[in-house]
Amino acid sequence: MKALHCLSYGEPPELTVADIDEPLPGPGEALIAVEAVGLGGFDAVLLGGRYQERPSLPFVPGRELTGRVLAVGEGGDPAMVGARVAAIAFRGALAERTVAHLSHCLTVPAGMEAAVAASFLTSYATGLYALEDCGRLAAGETVLVLGGAGTVGAAAIDLAKAMGARVVAAASSPEKLEFCRARGADVLVDYADPNWRKELAGRIGGGVDVVLDPVGGALSEAAFRSLAPRGRHLVVGFASGEIPRIPLNLPLLKRASIVGVDWGGFMQKEPDGNRDLMRRLGGLYDSGALHPEPSSVHPVGAVADLLMGFLERRSVGKPVVRVEFGAS
Ligand SMILES: NC(=O)c1ccc[n+]([C@@H]2O[C@H](COP(=O)([O-])OP(=O)(O)OC[C@H]3O[C@@H](n4cnc5c(N)ncnc54)[C@H](OP(=O)(O)O)[C@@H]3O)[C@@H](O)[C@H]2O)c1
Repeated sequence: MKALHCLSYGEPPELTVADIDEPLPGPGEALIAVEAVGLGGFDAVLLGGRYQERPSLPFVPGRELTGRVLAVGEGGDPAMVGARVAAIAFRGALAERTVAHLSHCLTVPAGMEAAVAASFLTSYATGLYALEDCGRLAAGETVLVLGGAGTVGAAAIDLAKAMGARVVAAASSPEKLEFCRARGADVLVDYADPNWRKELAGRIGGGVDVVLDPVGGALSEAAFRSLAPRGRHLVVGFASGEIPRIPLNLPLLKRASIVGVDWGGFMQKEPDGNRDLMRRLGGLYDSGALHPEPSSVHPVGAVADLLMGFLERRSVGKPVVRVEFGAS
């Protein structure tokens, strides 16, 4: 079968199309014919060689996919054969066929297109886990979404609106803020402006109840200082490349919490909790409250440039790759 091979890490990484053996599904795994792959900031950091884990080279990248189940391994539910799933494969998704554990597969809701499904799972599951399970966001509260035009940020705006919150989206350019407005954000803040915190306080008349933070760096402490008493700061990631240090007198003085969000760890270590999360996510989607969509759809040959788009802060929303090697 054909697959995209990463030959060397880098910015951009060296990628080539290769003929490799088809994977075999192990116990509890599904063999999936891949239709589309969603990319995120994680893929760019991994292939740039800056993630703590470095798969040995060459390897097939791609973490999040949509496709049809062709076969299941020992102990897998045979009724899943033929199902269309959104799945997390961790790696190996940018190939004609891949394997994923069945507990990391979500049946795609009827009528959801492949590209939409590939833009949905990681960003929306992370957003719901962050806002509902970790942040206890309640209707009527105000949430500040940093990096609002990123893959996680865009999903968090949509989810927070569905949960009845007032959403402040923060980003670094007017174009990105316009994207956040179109996703439903109520208030827009350009954090490239050094006075952004003052602007924010004036516009919302006080502090925010929840901060969703996939960015890190200097922005994190500034955002924490914008929390209202009993606020919750949700640590989702460090897209800025810098892990911040927050003085612990700040949570004490505000009676506020810093909460770590790791959906990947939750999915692997708490499968029952994750099944419940997936049920809630599916219910929200079926109710019509969510609006997942890829920001753009690309051929396989565009992967290296899409990864650079994340690293160079050009990327907006969730780009999806259609897995058709003839067309790349
Ligand atoms: N904890 C979890 O369960 C979980 C799940 C998924 C992803 N993540 C992590 O969350 C982070 C964000 O992922 P994502 O897919 O949303 O990434 P993304 O689409 O690239 O969005 C990140 C945003 O961060 C901002 N940013 C600020 N400085 C940046 C820099 N130096 N380089 C790149 N972006 C910068 C950018 O917005 P502005 O230009 O507007 O500032 C960008 O839109 C990553 O660290 C990822 O690994 C965590």
